Amino acid sequence: MFLKREGFNHARFRRDIVGIDKKVPLAGGGYASYVNLDNAASTPVLRPVLDKVIEFMDWYSSVHRGTGFKSQVSTHVYDEAHEVVGSFVKADLSSNCVIFVKNATEAVNKVSYRLGLAKGDLVLTTMMEHHSNDLPWRSKAAAVYAGVDRRGALDLDDLETKLRQYGRRIKLVSVSGASNVTGFKNDVGSIAAIAHRAGVPILVDGAQLVPHSPVDIKPDDHPEHIDYLVFSAHKMYAPFGTGVLIGPKRTFLTGAPEYTGGGTVNIVTPETVEWAGLPDREEAGSPNVVGAVALASAIQYLQRQGMRNIENHERTVTSYALKRLGEVKGLRVYGETDPNRTGNRVGVITFNLDGIPHGLVAAALAWEGGIAVRNGCFCAQPYMLHLLGLNPQQLSRLIHKKRAGDLSGIPGMVRVSLAAYNNKKDIDRLIECLEKIKTMSRSGELAKRYALCRETGAYYPRDVKVHPKEVFKLE
Ligand SMILES: Cc1ncc(COP(=O)(O)O)c(C=O)c1O
Repeated sequence: MFLKREGFNHARFRRDIVGIDKKVPLAGGGYASYVNLDNAASTPVLRPVLDKVIEFMDWYSSVHRGTGFKSQVSTHVYDEAHEVVGSFVKADLSSNCVIFVKNATEAVNKVSYRLGLAKGDLVLTTMMEHHSNDLPWRSKAAAVYAGVDRRGALDLDDLETKLRQYGRRIKLVSVSGASNVTGFKNDVGSIAAIAHRAGVPILVDGAQLVPHSPVDIKPDDHPEHIDYLVFSAHKMYAPFGTGVLIGPKRTFLTGAPEYTGGGTVNIVTPETVEWAGLPDREEAGSPNVVGAVALASAIQYLQRQGMRNIENHERTVTSYALKRLGEVKGLRVYGETDPNRTGNRVGVITFNLDGIPHGLVAAALAWEGGIAVRNGCFCAQPYMLHLLGLNPQQLSRLIHKKRAGDLSGIPGMVRVSLAAYNNKKDIDRLIECLEKIKTMSRSGELAKRYALCRETGAYYPRDVKVHPKEVFKLE
């Protein structure tokens, strides 16, 4: 398939973001245009992606089973979307398959089921993982964790040591491509080479990498080949419920799928089951063709812009953000803080403001400045505890408090996460608002305006002029 590369046009990218100029209400009254700095959670949708989805709805029908013309169109489009995804990361689809799932979490879980792990088997993962690349391994085998350094960067030596130490018991090395807490990128090529030397396949959790950097899973016989890659469409401008798992066909042709039912079989008799080919046998039930159309369309958009260009732009804004955040007195950035060292990271930056709880900073950014960030532990609690330097006693006090239904004072951070449409002005708005929050804190205004809910640990403005439930109605 030939794709015309248009080159990166930032102004155009920004214009193409649906809702980019949306105004949101502020606590004290008035409105501000929304600044979304929470892209690591989910990005907004691109207008061309939404347009493609709407265009497709005229042809939307059931996939794979209908004989009607629209059914055949939908089937063709759905199958082609798998190829678009595969070629985006240069997968060899003669030996690998693209499986559509709901999201990255489901993709990791699927691998955890399909590897046929047994008691005593180990998966070597790391201390910097999202829970989605940790908990699935704990329940199917046992996880061992390669350590991280003080700033949170992966300790490759430790990974290699653990590989040697546990030897044949390790069935998979599973690492994030980029951290959703510090933005640190892992050198997945080198990790793959280390794992393959030990005869172990590697899974890369690409949820925070694939939307921001070119990813090449390399030929199967290449030492740096990525055996399994997972990512989510809602983090790359296509929030229609699709996730991706790419892996070797042989894994998924062995044994039965974890979900069985319609679509997964060729022949069923009361006694026997003949599983269908791939990817059908791994995509049980009626597939999400709309999500597939959206993801393929988003990928084609990103390819036209050029993933390397996107990466470079995001690095520039990340560097600017680190520089400006470094100028805010009393603000501590975690992970890599040097604005000139953006080569091994994505635009995820976490920080705390001295003396102001992370939940309060996040709430005030939203309600004083119309700025969306995230706060808390970002589904990566072991990593967060390490970065925050909490000791076991502090940890057990926290668990005790949590069990008692009090989530106030739970340690965490504020996270800013960038995408290709963000610009330096977004960062200026952030800095301006952080300074305002500091001033409000000093004058006591912040404490007056915001209340803490102990059960959730979240802060809310006491006086809201427009409540979120008023602005969009389902009927
Ligand atoms: C690094 C990482 N892995 C996995 C996930 C899970 O993605 P999803 O919620 O789309 O399943 C996330 C989500 O934030 C993530 O940041």
